[in-house]
Amino acid sequence: MTTQLDHIETASIDELRSLQLERLQKTLYHAYENVPMYKRKFDEAGVHPSDCKILEDLNRFPFTTKQDLRDNYPFGLFAVPMDKIVRLHASSGTTGKPTVVGYTQQDIDIWADVVARSLRAAGLSHKDKIHVAYGYGLFTGGMGAHYGAERLGAAVIPMSGGQTEKQAQLIQDFLPDGIMVTPSYCLNIIDELEKQMGDASKCSLRVGVFGAEPWTNAMRGEIEQRLGIDALDIYGLSEVMGPGVAMECLESKDGTTIWEDHFYPEIVDASTGEVQADGELGELVFTTITKEGMPVIRYRTRDLTRLLPGSVRTMRRMDKITGRSDDMLIIRGVNVFPTQVEEQLLKFSQLTPHYQLEVSRQGHLDSLRVKVELRHDHASADPHSLAYQLKHRIKAMIGISTQVDIVGEGQLPRSEGKAVRVVDLRKSA
Ligand code: DLL
Repeated sequence: MTTQLDHIETASIDELRSLQLERLQKTLYHAYENVPMYKRKFDEAGVHPSDCKILEDLNRFPFTTKQDLRDNYPFGLFAVPMDKIVRLHASSGTTGKPTVVGYTQQDIDIWADVVARSLRAAGLSHKDKIHVAYGYGLFTGGMGAHYGAERLGAAVIPMSGGQTEKQAQLIQDFLPDGIMVTPSYCLNIIDELEKQMGDASKCSLRVGVFGAEPWTNAMRGEIEQRLGIDALDIYGLSEVMGPGVAMECLESKDGTTIWEDHFYPEIVDASTGEVQADGELGELVFTTITKEGMPVIRYRTRDLTRLLPGSVRTMRRMDKITGRSDDMLIIRGVNVFPTQVEEQLLKFSQLTPHYQLEVSRQGHLDSLRVKVELRHDHASADPHSLAYQLKHRIKAMIGISTQVDIVGEGQLPRSEGKAVRVVDLRKSA
């Protein structure tokens, strides 16, 4: 229940790097000796755990991909006997089998520790009440947040996702200090709070811990202003652990600090796999260095970002995730991520922050339709002129031609977890 930072958060770089090396070497042996896939892959690549003498040697080891997890479904990558596993989670995925992850008691403890550390970085403490609106279940969001908030010593309100009216009611009744939820579902809760109480910024909340999907600084501004809070970014993925792999600090709000004493990051060129220098944009790759149940070696996250030097902590930060490489749209030769469109449409005060992108194919070319909502209180605005302005802005800033559809407020689907930003009509065509 301490409010102090963990020693390693402000240790010297040398101390951090030497701890990482020791843990990395141990993890490579653990994976090689206990997981047939790693033994086979290392052998095929002609590397052995003993070849890792400095941290940079990690780049001699082969990558692990989501396909490897699928090929070893459900438990083939576990590095301990089943009787040491105390929890399973799975991510549904849009295609094929889910990917399954297993945790030992020590893994669960470390996870709770890093989420508690993340909440502390957000300025929360054991004195606070924390409303968790990430989904509970196989998804790691709800339970990961829950155990971390308990470890902090806070009073947890385990709402899970959905029942938006009740979420808004309980926020007014229980007076939580913090909320943990996806940014898109938070917008939905804000709409409901405004319906119930008028000005949502008058609610008790002080800070929000938002993640599980890409969101822009423009969205941060929208949420902070309407809810009267500080909105911070939390990052994680089930294959590596769940929420709490990296967390933004309240005092700097300058990207998420990666808890590098447990998760070792690299950025690689997504097409060649070559390691990039810090500061270069590329695909984020993680090696877990303390996990027992299911260690992952050089896991390709498909998330695109860059590594930045530490600021208020020793550990490195990462830039906001632009998107996953699989979410990238190619519209007439131009690469575009939904977050880029989000950034532009949030500049229009007449529009709600809810949006959806529809991709279709006309002949050989893909085209993009941007669906946005006109706010009730701007119902008299001319939708044609607004559509023209947004279309023009997107063309000028992103370089793609789009069709913009303006619909009434409340007509686009609302998120209760991770938002579905892109509807791909090419697949059903
Ligand atoms: O989304 C874990 C999580 C739960 C993180 C709650 C934060 C809060 P998965 O379902 O396995 O796990 O999805 C992981 O979500 O690879 C990213 O593409 C995306 N993602 C997660 N956090 C962020 C974030 C959870 N802060 C995938 N910004 C990751 C952008 C994020 N994308």
